[in-house]
Amino acid sequence: MSIISDRCIKRGIRLGDPSYKHHEHKHLYKSKVHRKSAIQVYHGEGYIPHILYVIRKFSPEMIVELGTSEGGMTLIFHEEFRNIPIHTFDVKEILPSTLALFDRKLVHFHRESLYPRESSVLIDLLSINKDIKKFMYSDVGTAKIEGFRYVKYLSSGDLFGTHDWIFQVDPDEAEKYLGDFVPFERELMRKEWLWTRFWKKK
Ligand SMILES: C[S@@+](CC[C@H](N)C(=O)[O-])C[C@H]1O[C@@H](n2cnc3c(N)ncnc32)[C@H](O)[C@@H]1O
Repeated sequence: MSIISDRCIKRGIRLGDPSYKHHEHKHLYKSKVHRKSAIQVYHGEGYIPHILYVIRKFSPEMIVELGTSEGGMTLIFHEEFRNIPIHTFDVKEILPSTLALFDRKLVHFHRESLYPRESSVLIDLLSINKDIKKFMYSDVGTAKIEGFRYVKYLSSGDLFGTHDWIFQVDPDEAEKYLGDFVPFERELMRKEWLWTRFWKKK
C-alpha cells in the first residue's frame, strides 16, 4: 500500500469505497488559472471559494503567504482583501508583467529563502506586526512542514493555514507541530474533502 493511500485511509477517505465518489471531487485537484490574468494558481478550483470563506470569517488585517510561485493565489488574496497589506515570500522572482497587476504599496514580494535557514526578514515582519491580526498561509510546495517552523512567531489570535499537507504531514498528527493552536473551520474542510487546514493561535 502506498504512503498516500495509507494516509487517506487513516483520515477516513476510503479509496475504492463506492461512498467516496472520487469523480465528483476531481475538480478539486485541477490547477486553476486566474481568470483575467491567466496566471497559474496552484490550487484546485474547488478550493478557492472555501479558503476565501474561511479567511473572510477570520477577517485578517494582514496576510503573509509562504510560497508565491507565479503569484496566482497572491492575486486572488489581493482582489478579495483589497485594502490590507500582503507579504509574500519565495525564492523565485516574479515577472514584471505580474507585478504590474498589484498595488505595490500594499503587496510586498520578498525574494527570500525560508529554509533550511530561518528567514530573519519573515521573523522580523511577524514580530514587528505582533499587534496586527495576521493570517499566515504556508504553501511552500512539497516541504509544507517547513512552513510550520514559523508558527512560533505568530501572536495570540492569529490564523495559520496550510495546503496539500497530506503529502508530508498526517492530518491527525499536525497539531504536534503547532502547540498553542486550535483547529478553525476544520469540519467545513473535511466535509468538502479539501486538504487545506486552518488553526487559530490561542
Ligand atoms: C506550490 S508553490 C506555491 C503556489 C502558490 N501559493 C499558489 O497557490 O499559486 C510552492 C513555492 O514554494 C517555493 N519554495 C520552495 N522552497 C522554498 C524556500 N526554501 N524558500 C522560499 N520559497 C520556497 C517554490 O519556489 C514554489 O514557488
